[in-house]
Amino acid sequence: MGKISAAITAVGAYVPEYVLTNQILETLVDTNDEWITSRTGIKERRILKEEGKGTSYLAIKAAQDLIDKKGIDPKTIELVIVATATPDMKAASTASFTATEIGATNAFSFDMDAACSGFLYGMSVATSYIESGRYKNVLLIGADKMSSIINYKDRATCIIFGDGAGAVLFEPNDEGLGFQDEYLRSDGTGREFLQATYGGSSYALTPEILEKGGQYAFQEGKTVFKNAVFNMADATFKILERNNLTIEDVNWLAAHQANKRIIDAIAQRIELEEEKVMINIHKYGNTTSATLPLLLNDYESQLKKGDKVIFAAFGGGFSWGAIYLKWAYNSVN
Ligand code: UT7
Repeated sequence: MGKISAAITAVGAYVPEYVLTNQILETLVDTNDEWITSRTGIKERRILKEEGKGTSYLAIKAAQDLIDKKGIDPKTIELVIVATATPDMKAASTASFTATEIGATNAFSFDMDAACSGFLYGMSVATSYIESGRYKNVLLIGADKMSSIINYKDRATCIIFGDGAGAVLFEPNDEGLGFQDEYLRSDGTGREFLQATYGGSSYALTPEILEKGGQYAFQEGKTVFKNAVFNMADATFKILERNNLTIEDVNWLAAHQANKRIIDAIAQRIELEEEKVMINIHKYGNTTSATLPLLLNDYESQLKKGDKVIFAAFGGGFSWGAIYLKWAYNSVN
């Protein structure tokens, strides 16, 4: 028998109902639809408005969508990983609450945080557990309530981010489909350019800091932009080269949805046709850990068994990389 590979066998997703349009943002900060659309490609994003509901609410809904679609018994899930930069609380994990709420009572669970690369790194972890033979059903969820750390008076950040969640199930595959290769990196010198600083162990969230809005995320957009384009394209080139793939071999690019101009610049660098580039940033904005599974959910009906998919992400840390995966099923819809 050949090596066991780890394949995605189901996808689910959830976005909140409330739609924050560019027109509404025009009433909150000094911005306009034309600027936001031309600089980012974003038209609207979803926001979880209900009081007291956090990231676990999004994660649970996405997982339940997957469970319903696939018709699985949640008791068969052995591990639940929640990739998130906005956990419900510092401790206990969002994953343990999520796992119990969805009925995954035979699973262990933990959170992972790698900012916008959280889901990509999560794929590396989830697939390793399957490839090792230790577990056969691993649920990976990417979920973020970005609105909980966004200052809706700061036009540099509030136009970009949105809330959402996506989930995928990894199972063993003996046809050589699923995960093929990864190139993952991080560079701590980048953290000064993109961070939500206060509330951690080094930077206390004092009343004075709160007064200044220190609880919110900050980014130096231009520096992040340049690094995102260079590093996602570089990681993709490395993956193509290492796997003897030409760009014609690639069926899909699923890149982190942070800015349409970043995605276009990567596609141009690697010379990939527009039709092969997954895009939904216009609907959801940047949902951090949720962008990649939300793409898979939106494109699931177009994905064919054997399709070669390249995932790429870049985010705070800095953190980045690319993963090459062969899609393992044809959608029934
Ligand atoms: O997911 C994690 C990774 N994050 C990213 O990858 C985000 C990367 N960065 C970006 O996407 C872009 O840098 C932004 C969308 C954040 C900003 O776009 P930009 O083209 O880099 O704009 P900028 O910050 O250089 O600002 C250009 C101008 C400035 O005015 P002046 O100085 O030229 O007069 C800004 O003050 O646009 C102004 N500006 C705005 N104008 C209208 C900045 N934000 C806005 C706004 N509406 N919302």
